[in-house]
Amino acid sequence: MKAIASASVLASSLVLTLCPVAQVGAQQAPIVIKFSHVVTSETPKGRAAELFKKLAEQRSNGRVRIEVYPNSTLFKDKEELEALQLGSVQMLAPSFSKFGPMGINQFEAFDLPYLFESYDELHKVTRGPVGAAMLRLLRDHGIVGLAFWDNGFKDFTDNKPLRTPGDFRGQKIRIQSSKVLDAQTRALGAIPQVMAFSEVYQALQTGVVDGFENTPSNIYTQKVHEVQKYMTLSEHGYIGYVVIANAKFWDSLPSDLRAILAQSIAEASDFADEIAKKENDDAIAAIRKKGRTEIIELTAEEKRSLKQALLPVHHQLEGRVGRDLLQSIYAATGRLAAESPAPSAAVR
Ligand code: LMR
Repeated sequence: MKAIASASVLASSLVLTLCPVAQVGAQQAPIVIKFSHVVTSETPKGRAAELFKKLAEQRSNGRVRIEVYPNSTLFKDKEELEALQLGSVQMLAPSFSKFGPMGINQFEAFDLPYLFESYDELHKVTRGPVGAAMLRLLRDHGIVGLAFWDNGFKDFTDNKPLRTPGDFRGQKIRIQSSKVLDAQTRALGAIPQVMAFSEVYQALQTGVVDGFENTPSNIYTQKVHEVQKYMTLSEHGYIGYVVIANAKFWDSLPSDLRAILAQSIAEASDFADEIAKKENDDAIAAIRKKGRTEIIELTAEEKRSLKQALLPVHHQLEGRVGRDLLQSIYAATGRLAAESPAPSAAVR
């Protein structure tokens, strides 16, 4: 009997060394994390997602496999948040503007025009107590808020030159699903059209919409410069992201694995924030070099009149995003509380 036992021990160890596949049978199959997003891999978010994948897989010795699905290849904008809540995708990094349809209006505060005038101001919120509190409120919706990732400041594109508020009158502008962006567009006398990011190129090409607002990196990587004659460097608002996970899935992970993932996300966040400005500056240079889109630099007077037209949106939408939250963002950046006028006041 003993002889048979030692023979089978010998046999199995033989098998183990000869074909590692057998080992996999022995080891746990990797936990698969689907990470869906809507931009290309050549963007701050796309590159950060790939770095997160590399770090998490390396550090977990293959206990997790991160499947990144860029460019809406798995889910489009609206679908991806529903899919996360259903658990058919485990992680996302949607922009702040995508949470409103789920009833999470606070993140639309980030859509307010001219809320931030630099990455430094932004980071006082996203890397400070205000940002941390905003991440925590996602738990009530079955979501874990893990980190903020930067992208950049938005510009307008159109097939007519946009310099003054009057130029926007009657233009159909594609926006993300945010009430703040809806109000911003109407404040310019333009017509807001909510549309999935993946549908923008074709909608601009066919004239379903006249114009678009986004970061240079998104404008360039979605080839918008091929279908828009003008780009106005307005920097009138900001696009950034919240890295999120399905709460049930996240809480079900072994704690050491959660720690590895959290550390990998933290490093990918630093990376995203590090490269964001350069990615956007490089995109403007690349669009200029393509020579198909005229880049419009606004005069100080034109910037002032655009700001004057848009700042009242703060007052208009403070009820929706939360007056206290808005005041705490103003306090964190130390700038706008005095500047954001009641509708009638003049802009300095
Ligand atoms: C958009 O829909 O315009 C952006 O949020 C896309 C993105 O994720 O940057």
